[in-house]
Amino acid sequence: MTKSAHMLRLGVNVDHVATLRNARGGSHPCPVSAALLAQKSGADGITAHLREDRRHIKDDDIISLKQVLDIPLNFEMAATEEMVSLAEKLRPNAACIVPEKREELTTEGGLAVVGHEARLAPFITRLKEAGARVSLFVDAIPAELEASAALGADIVELHTGAYCDSSGGERAAHLKLLRDGAHHADQLGLEVHAGHGLNYENVSDIAALRQMTELNIGHFLIGAAVFSGLPDALSTMRRLMDDARAKDIA
Ligand code: PXP
Repeated sequence: MTKSAHMLRLGVNVDHVATLRNARGGSHPCPVSAALLAQKSGADGITAHLREDRRHIKDDDIISLKQVLDIPLNFEMAATEEMVSLAEKLRPNAACIVPEKREELTTEGGLAVVGHEARLAPFITRLKEAGARVSLFVDAIPAELEASAALGADIVELHTGAYCDSSGGERAAHLKLLRDGAHHADQLGLEVHAGHGLNYENVSDIAALRQMTELNIGHFLIGAAVFSGLPDALSTMRRLMDDARAKDIA
């Protein structure tokens, strides 16, 4: 497939603006204002994860995000009746199904699609009927990609956490899994996204994967914004992504 450098979208996850706000229980800093600033600063989409325990994004945040944004909203959600019902009302541009355990600090590992098809299938149908493109957040494992395609998902978001958390030979092995996974998913007709743990240092190898069309990045960007501001953090990330892409295409 041919890709231009501009086809790699940057999705900005604003969950941790809400984490900071909630630390004091007030309204500052506002994740919706941060999303609008990200939009103005070149983000191609906004992601927010409404967790079961509402630890960062709240219901009102996600409703406001859908109302005010001109760029697509990617609604990250667990495969539960509560979240699917909410998505049916919200009608986000995309719905990304993630695994969710109450006690975890963040999303650890990809969604188990294999063996859970019967539970996921009706949720996927309902999300599609609500006009959302359905994305499944999975590890780059062939069987999970094949099961995602068989269930009619539009997108797989490959979990980059293990790649980001490792170094040396181990990281190279994780990168190979992601490279092979991106290729396999593309062959299966799935759009390929990636995210989790990406930062200035590790983004280039992922951005260079030819089948990749979107990276969703949150925690690092919000942290970098403390030092340089959100527009600067976004433009630095964007430049790294475009540079990696241009090298790969050349
Ligand atoms: N993509 C998905 C599906 C996620 O669950 C997360 C974490 O909420 C991200 C991307 C962003 O990860 P990070 O905050 O580590 O950049």
